[in-house]
Amino acid sequence: MSGETTEGEALFAPATARNGAAILDVLRAVLPPAGTVLEVASGTGEHAVRFAAALPHLRWQPSDPDWRALGSIAAHARPAALPNLLLPLELDACAEAWPVARAEAVVCINMIHIAPPAATAGLLAGAGRLLPEGGPLVLYGPFRVSGVHTAESNARFDADLRMRDPEWGVRDLEAVLATAAGHGLHLSERIAMPANNLCVVLRKGGPAAT
Ligand SMILES: C[S@@+](CC[C@H](N)C(=O)[O-])C[C@H]1O[C@@H](n2cnc3c(N)ncnc32)[C@H](O)[C@@H]1O
Repeated sequence: MSGETTEGEALFAPATARNGAAILDVLRAVLPPAGTVLEVASGTGEHAVRFAAALPHLRWQPSDPDWRALGSIAAHARPAALPNLLLPLELDACAEAWPVARAEAVVCINMIHIAPPAATAGLLAGAGRLLPEGGPLVLYGPFRVSGVHTAESNARFDADLRMRDPEWGVRDLEAVLATAAGHGLHLSERIAMPANNLCVVLRKGGPAAT
């Protein structure tokens, strides 16, 4: 959450306001027609409110391990008063057990490059445990593809992240897919997004027949 501003407990992240519409288009296309969507790393909670409002046929379960984020999610959710937006859960992707009994889909936006590799591994393991056959895990963010950055701006962003924390950094898509496969998740769709980001949709179960 960089460049964020605050109003009381509510945090506002400029990137979250910018990328919400494009991500929502993808979510409309790939999420199931009913059920619970677990959002890992909800951050400010702006996405949670926007997506829950736009997808009233789904229950939206926001989560984050950070207490400031949990306060912000609740602060955004209160005035929205959406019946399908659940109270935020404290959830660290690295944890071996998640405080969620079931979810038909998992969404994780802009986390895996701003967290240690263990968070990516934990996210893939957790989604593998939780999702039903065919259920999607939707990842959004910058990725390296075939070992190279997809844009010069992503290379600069990567260097900046690694300076801030040596454990952070733009991940290799192929490495993420290899780890995902170990948890029964396979690539379903890869969608180019604005500002050199990708939406990567993984699904539980065998690879799609070609
Ligand atoms: C850049 S923010 C993105 C927030 C939000 N998804 C968005 O797009 O606005 C990264 C978020 O990842 C969360 N995060 C970091 N490590 C995590 C972990 N191990 N498990 C779950 N979330 C984590 C942070 O607390 C933070 O809210």
